[in-house]
Formats: sequence, structure tokens, C-alpha cells
Amino acid sequence: MPNRVVVGAQWGDEAKGKIVDCLAESAAMVVRYSGGSNAGHTVMVGEEKFKFFLMPAGILHPHVTCVLADGAVVDPGVLAEEIRDLKRRGIDVSRLRISANAHVIMPYHRLLDELEESRKGEGRLGTTGRGVGPAYVDKAARTGIRVGELIDSNRFRVRITHAINEKNRILSRLYDAPPLNLDEVLAECEEQAKDIRPFVTHTAPLVAEAAASEPGVLFEGAQGTLLDIDHGTYPFVTSSHPVAGGACIGTGVGPTAIHQVIGVSKAYTTRVGAGVFPTEQCNEIGDHIRERGAEYGTTTGRPRRCGWLDTVILRYSAMVNGLSSLALNHLDVLSGLDEVKIAVAYRIDGAETSFLPGDLSNCNEIEPVYETLPGWDEEIGQCESLASLPRNARRYVERVEQLAGIPIFSVSVGPVRDQTIFLQK
Ligand code: IMP
Repeated sequence: MPNRVVVGAQWGDEAKGKIVDCLAESAAMVVRYSGGSNAGHTVMVGEEKFKFFLMPAGILHPHVTCVLADGAVVDPGVLAEEIRDLKRRGIDVSRLRISANAHVIMPYHRLLDELEESRKGEGRLGTTGRGVGPAYVDKAARTGIRVGELIDSNRFRVRITHAINEKNRILSRLYDAPPLNLDEVLAECEEQAKDIRPFVTHTAPLVAEAAASEPGVLFEGAQGTLLDIDHGTYPFVTSSHPVAGGACIGTGVGPTAIHQVIGVSKAYTTRVGAGVFPTEQCNEIGDHIRERGAEYGTTTGRPRRCGWLDTVILRYSAMVNGLSSLALNHLDVLSGLDEVKIAVAYRIDGAETSFLPGDLSNCNEIEPVYETLPGWDEEIGQCESLASLPRNARRYVERVEQLAGIPIFSVSVGPVRDQTIFLQK
């Protein structure tokens, strides 16, 4: 298998977990390269549902080594709970490796995430409240605590004492909030450190070695391209690099080690949190998608904003990620609509463009230009090939491929592994 990146081509929640789970079968290693427990990857195995926040979705395959790499931010409490849950369900987690260089989400990061959001009021970003932004702030400020320090009691005691003093000043002076108790935080973190210590190591050499061997590495993106801190709809983005290039930054492998980039998109678009969303449908179409697609956040339970597929975004995504192909998920959700629309361009201040403007957040009046196709009524969950899809569903897939300009890798017609039509593998 080539070394592949699976990357979200939209605003996250594209059901990347399902694709990673399917492809992990033919990989030696699955590596999460960015983000934290803001992600929620759901994998269905038959009737059984697994929700992963930090654990790479490859863990369900007994031959796969799973790595949480340097670019991720780790909430040790969340990860410890995931490890316990998987063990209870009979899954072997001894194949997990956590980078000593990954930064730790501390209790004060979660607290600051919430306080900052409420201070912003109407201008809030709608973060997941998991402390991800503040953890990356400390990383960039070079005051963060890394996993290697968390598990080294003596070093940790020094670092946490300094950090709590610092954060308590911010909590009291900026937010008028009660201070954190050093001993309590220390005790909590020491407990969590015990749970994750056996898995911690320097992961870059492991990833490099697996990437240089057969059957290769699958790099698991979290969030989506439009949430990238540099290439997304800033400031309504996350604080990391979900784009395919993040796989290099976040793991320590060079770009020449990556052979294929698979973009994952839904057959429509969703977004959670604030920010521009040109094809959003605040009407019965949006409701249809939300209810049929169970479009509620895995991490926060928030109802997702829903709308038509936007190929302006997919073409942009193809460009910034260098997409080799496109996995089109949730096609079954569109069954039952008289007609289906695809945005092919935007009209901004009277001018039509088929490219994403450089600063989307600065364009308030974006009117999508749609192409309308006939819908289909049939349920498609049992379809095993493109040929067996209803004619209009097949036409829709073909048109998406043409408009996005990316070959289709797979089409998903339901939540479980078998409900995936692979055109390439
Ligand atoms: P944060 O990553 O929690 O700081 O949130 C920043 C923005 O990214 C918010 O709009 C979140 O809703 C969004 N976001 C973060 N993680 C995900 C995800 O996994 N799926 C979808 N949106 C996300």
C-alpha cells in the first residue's frame, strides 16, 4: 500500500473515521497527526458503534500500530478513558504509541477555552470547548507541557508549578475566576500520567520506518481543510493544520514519503460553530439532511449546520491538499429529495467566481451559483456498485467528480464498513 493521507475536504465531520477504518486493513500503521479531542471519529462495525476522540481509528484492526504523533494535542484524561473503554470491549490497545513531543491539554486549557469564548460573546468562534486552542497557544508561546514531561514526575512538578502560577494570574486578573489548586491539578495529572505512560515514546523514527516499508502508513487527518489555521476560513478555524501538509509537520516524515492524498467529503456540506457557510440551508432541506444524516456533533452533541455540496470548496481543497482522489460519503442521506443542488461558483458583489476568495470571512454576501439535478427516492444502503445506484444518484456522483475535478475513490451509502463502494483501493 502507498503511504496515504486521509484528509477532510470540508469543515470537518466528513466521516473520515469510516474511510480510515476501511483502509487500515491494508496498512501497518495509522497515525493521527494533528488536533485533539475536538475531533470525534465514529466507526460502525456491524451494530457496534465506536467513537474515537484521540485514538486513531485504525485501533480496531489487530495488526495495526496506532500513533498519536507530535502535532496532536493530548488530553490525557480523555485518552485514558478511551483506552479503558476499548479494553472493556475486548480491543487490544497495546499497539498504541503516543509521541513524547505531543503537547498536553491541561485542565486550565479547557477552562480558558470556555472563559475566552464567553468573553467574546456574540463574536465567539463556537469552539468545542476542549481546550485545544489554548493548548496550541502555549505550544506556540513555548510554555506548553509535553507528554514526555507529563510522565516524568520530577520535571512535571516543576513545570506545572510554574504554569499554575502563571494561569492563576490570568484567571483572576483577566476573568475574575477562582484560582486552580496546584495540589489538585498535580494529583489529577499524576493519575492520568500513570494511565498513558506505557504508550509514550519518540514516534517519528517509528513512523519513518513504517513509511519506508510495506504495507505502509495511513495518516489520519482530523477536522477539515476549511478549519486549517492557515488555509481555512480564519478566524473561524481550529488551531492546527488539518490539511495534508500537516501530516508531514505533525509526524516528522518528509513530503516525499507521501504517495497519495484522499480527500473526504460528504455528498452535502455541514459546519459546526460560527463562520461563513455559503450553501447553508436554514430550511426544510437543512432539516432533511440533519435528521437523515444524524448531523449532531460527536464531541459536543451540537446540531450541525447543513447545506448543499459546494464544489468551489472541493476544488480549493484539491489544490491545497494536492488531492489524488475523493471519498464521497453519506450519499444515502440525500435520498428522498425532489431535486439536489451543487454549488458550482459564487456571486460576490455581482461578479461570478469559481475560485474560493482569499479571505472568505470578509465576504458577507456570497450567493452560491447552483446547478440543479433531479433527486431520487430510493434507499441506496444495499447498493454494492455504482451501476446499482438509482440513475439520478449515479448522475449526481458523476457530476460531482466532474465539477470537483477529482477522481472518485469511494462512495459511501450507509454507516457500516460494507456500505462502501470502492472505485479505487
Ligand atoms: P476548536 O478546535 O475546539 O478550537 O474549535 C474551533 C472551530 O473548529 C469551531 O468552529 C469548531 O466547531 C470547529 N471544530 C473543531 N473540531 C472540529 C471537528 O472535529 N469537526 C467539526 N468542527 C470542528
